[in-house]
Amino acid sequence: MYRVYIITSSDTASKGEKEDLSGAEIRKMLSEFGGYEVIGSVILPDDREGLAEEMKRVADEKAADLILTTGGTGFSQRDNMPEATRDACTRMVPGIAEAMRAYSMTKTPRGMLSRAASGIRGFTLIVNLPGSVKAVRECLECILPALGHGIDILKGDAEKCGEESV
Ligand code: MTE
Repeated sequence: MYRVYIITSSDTASKGEKEDLSGAEIRKMLSEFGGYEVIGSVILPDDREGLAEEMKRVADEKAADLILTTGGTGFSQRDNMPEATRDACTRMVPGIAEAMRAYSMTKTPRGMLSRAASGIRGFTLIVNLPGSVKAVRECLECILPALGHGIDILKGDAEKCGEESV
C-alpha cells in the first residue's frame, strides 16, 4: 500500500466555515482505485510558509510516500500552493502537472488556469491538485495509472520497466 497524506489549502475550510469536499473526494477515489492508504489529512490556511512546512515535516518524517494537495493553484492573491510546493521540493517533476493540465484541457478550457506543481522531497512525491471536486476527480483520473510506478522508482522498489513504458 502506498501511504498518502492529504493537504487541503483553504482559508475558509480551515476555519470550519466550509466543508472540505475535495479532500473527501481524494479519499473516495483512492479507495476505489485501490493500493493507497490515507494515513492522515489536514486543512490549512492558504499561507505559503505553513503549507511548505507541513510538506517538509511529512516528507522528512518519511511518514508518506505521496502527498496530495488540493486547492490554492489558481490566480487569486491567496493561491500559494505551487510556491509552497517548490519551497518544499528538492527535485521538480513537471511531467505530472503538465499531464494533468493537458488532460484537463480536454474537459474544460479553464484547465490552463491551474498553476499546479509536482515534485519530490526525499522519498516523498508531492502533487498539487486544483481545488474543486470536479477538478480533483479529473486530475486524479489522469495521473493515478502512472503514480504507483513513479513511487516505486523513488523508493527503489521498481522492477525493470515493463513493456507499457517502452
Ligand atoms: N482542471 C480540471 N480538470 N477541471 C476543472 O474544472 N478548473 C480550473 C483549473 N483546473 C478545473 C481544472 C479552474 S476554474 C481553476 S481557477 C484552476 O484549476 C485553479 O483552481 P484552484 O485555485 O481551486 O486550485
